[in-house]
Amino acid sequence: MKTILTGIKPTGEIHIGNYLGAMKPAIKACLAADGTSYLFIADYHSLTATHDSKVFEEIVYEVAAAWMACGLDTSKTVLYRQSDIPEIFELAWILSCFTPKGFMNRSHAYKAKVAENEENGKKDLDHGVNMGLFMYPVLMTADILAFDADEVPVGEDQLQHLEFCRDIAQKFNHNYGEVLKVPKAVKKDETKSIIGIDGRKMSKSYGNSIPLFAPEKRLRKLIMKIKTDSLPPEAPKNSEDSLALEYFKEFATEIEIEKMLSRYKEGVSWGDVKQNLFEVMNREIAPQRAIYDSLISDRAKIDAILVDGAQKARERSKAVIQRVRQAIGKS
Ligand code: TRP
Repeated sequence: MKTILTGIKPTGEIHIGNYLGAMKPAIKACLAADGTSYLFIADYHSLTATHDSKVFEEIVYEVAAAWMACGLDTSKTVLYRQSDIPEIFELAWILSCFTPKGFMNRSHAYKAKVAENEENGKKDLDHGVNMGLFMYPVLMTADILAFDADEVPVGEDQLQHLEFCRDIAQKFNHNYGEVLKVPKAVKKDETKSIIGIDGRKMSKSYGNSIPLFAPEKRLRKLIMKIKTDSLPPEAPKNSEDSLALEYFKEFATEIEIEKMLSRYKEGVSWGDVKQNLFEVMNREIAPQRAIYDSLISDRAKIDAILVDGAQKARERSKAVIQRVRQAIGKS
């Protein structure tokens, strides 16, 4: 039986792109897993960039409530908050003592920041880089190794971090024997890059996203804003190049899609298409929105689930840190 583990770094406002591209497939994978699956909210990773205490607190609850509302089964998947697991941070320090600094110099995220500084003509190429950001891959390594994870499903952008993780584990094991389990990265199929309502990649920073739990009225308004061509209602529409149709396909049934495709051929008004899109989208999201709304106003309930998750998670991480302490000669 395999242990699957993955982390979610909280960011503000979860949108449809996050839902379709990351949450839905991950929840499905968790439900299908035969071994133990661990899913955690990587809140201390967000601390590298989020220094507003209110925002920091808020985003953790938003992420937790959203995943629960979308059907994560917390009786099957251990859901916890990273900061509730002290073993991770002890392990992170220990592992940093086995991590060549050069690894971190080569980290994509750090290099991107340096390149940005260079481009902006900054004298100090490390401008705006705190040690948390620089050491991020070590903390991520500890997140994984503290749980003896076999498989870590990640997106393309995280594969380098997984390589560091494996290398660091091997360096440690080379010195002390087979203490740490060397995990395998499982690349998530991310063919699904969700497009924003203006036709660019969906991103909160572009202001083109559809928040997952926008109230019905706002959802409808945003759907009406989706970019289309300016053909008249009776003109046949191109089904190869229609953003509204792309969204529709994500939420509609096969039969509904067939029907919509033939309406495209005959000619259909964009208003009609969008109304239909709103209906299928809201059909799926409305029940989840209701759960989300009730959870987000009941933080005690979220806390209880996360505390319970942390307790279960620590059964595993305590055993690992025990092994590690023993290995390094701290008895
Ligand atoms: N770095 C990951 C991201 O930005 C989140 C993350 C933190 C993670 N720790 C992890 C993912 C451990 C997998 C395993 O998406």
